[in-house]
Amino acid sequence: MAMNGETKTKAKSNLSKRGSKALTPFSPYIDAVNQAKSCQWSPSNEEGFFLMATAESVLSFDLVHEKIRTCREVPATVGLYGNFRGGDRLRSAIAKMMERTFMGVEVNSAHICISSGVTAVLDLFFFATCDPGDGCLIPAPYFPAFDNDMSIRNEVQPIPVQPADTHTYIPTAEEMEKAVVEAAKRGVKPRVLLITNPGNPLGTLYPEATLKELLLWAVNRGLHVLSDEIYANSKFGSSPDEFISMEKVAQNAVLENLLSAELVAEFVHTAYGMSKDFGMNGFRVGSLHTRSKDLLNFWQNMGMFAAVSNDTQHALAVMLEDENFVDSYVSENKRRLKKSYELLTTNFKTANLHFMSACAAMFCWLDLRSVLAESTFKAESELWKEILEECHIVLTPGEACHYGEPGFFRVCYASMPPNQLQVACDRLTAFIEKKRRKRKAANIS
Ligand SMILES: Cc1ncc(COP(=O)(O)O)c(C=O)c1O
Repeated sequence: MAMNGETKTKAKSNLSKRGSKALTPFSPYIDAVNQAKSCQWSPSNEEGFFLMATAESVLSFDLVHEKIRTCREVPATVGLYGNFRGGDRLRSAIAKMMERTFMGVEVNSAHICISSGVTAVLDLFFFATCDPGDGCLIPAPYFPAFDNDMSIRNEVQPIPVQPADTHTYIPTAEEMEKAVVEAAKRGVKPRVLLITNPGNPLGTLYPEATLKELLLWAVNRGLHVLSDEIYANSKFGSSPDEFISMEKVAQNAVLENLLSAELVAEFVHTAYGMSKDFGMNGFRVGSLHTRSKDLLNFWQNMGMFAAVSNDTQHALAVMLEDENFVDSYVSENKRRLKKSYELLTTNFKTANLHFMSACAAMFCWLDLRSVLAESTFKAESELWKEILEECHIVLTPGEACHYGEPGFFRVCYASMPPNQLQVACDRLTAFIEKKRRKRKAANIS
């Protein structure tokens, strides 16, 4: 199988300019993901590939699968058009679940919009809030597909903001301000600050003080703040900071008279979805919490382009209304994530590999700078290719996450059961050990 990770696009196309632009996948490693998907490792296919580049969890779907089959009632009303901002029943069930499990504030279902995944939520959000050429500030490293989500249809420019603090990666308002000034020099006007908490690819949480600092800075500058909290129910480990939703930080800021309730309603928005914490990415369900009247009205109209089928909406509402199920599922899923994370990091520690400690989501940020041929993205890409070809493991290179320094890789450890994860760890650590021995021998001779 050719696994060169290169993207082949036609030189000339009969599509529009924007259609032609969309022929190129958002990252060159996507080809390798797709090829590996069709030949995955299994005990009977030991030459197969380990897909550790997709933010997908298979760890707890058995529980969701068993439950959702009992929720598929298919009432006659599902055959009709519904509310394109999401049906009342699912909006209520999602609002209640978000309120109870992670937002920590009252969530009114009238402020919920439902679309086919957070991808669709972001696409619609950027359509509504930005004009072509506008920018979106994003602390780096970030989830590679954000580039596609904002630029492919809406022509919004991602503005990665590199953290000066390379230990915590915690961004500051000052760094954001600098990025705004630099963007202005290129003629780009930022309209949105996009925060992912818990983080992808780091698997860490933002401290409350940082969220408050960024929120006050952004809202006072007239920027929308979109908080992507798609991993909010996947905090499995201990950490100095607890998860806190941006909406709660914003409401606290109103109580402290630091922001007006009107500004918060207009500028603060939260995205959540069923793809990660519930492992239901194939169901394509995402939501936006916003109190902006304009955005809610916009969704009523534009939501039709990315609506979730009424059949899926109904089954999901029935599932989420069972609060005992939700609570026991969330806690069991965290236990399984923790177990896999510990398996991975125990292997890394034994092999003396450096990584950033995580406490949430499904990623580990692995530092392979010590085995790069040189400190360049070309060398990072070569190492990525070697890992692909020799270990049959697909990782996400740090460059795809827009991190400024070469040598880092995102490892998703939830996309396979623990027994397979052990095999992948054995392959990866043996490969690194071999590389180290070679380097040592080369240095001696
Ligand atoms: C931070 C983040 N936001 C959004 C998405 C998209 O999720 P969905 O499947 O809901 O479109 C992902 C998927 O990996 C993600 O990691």
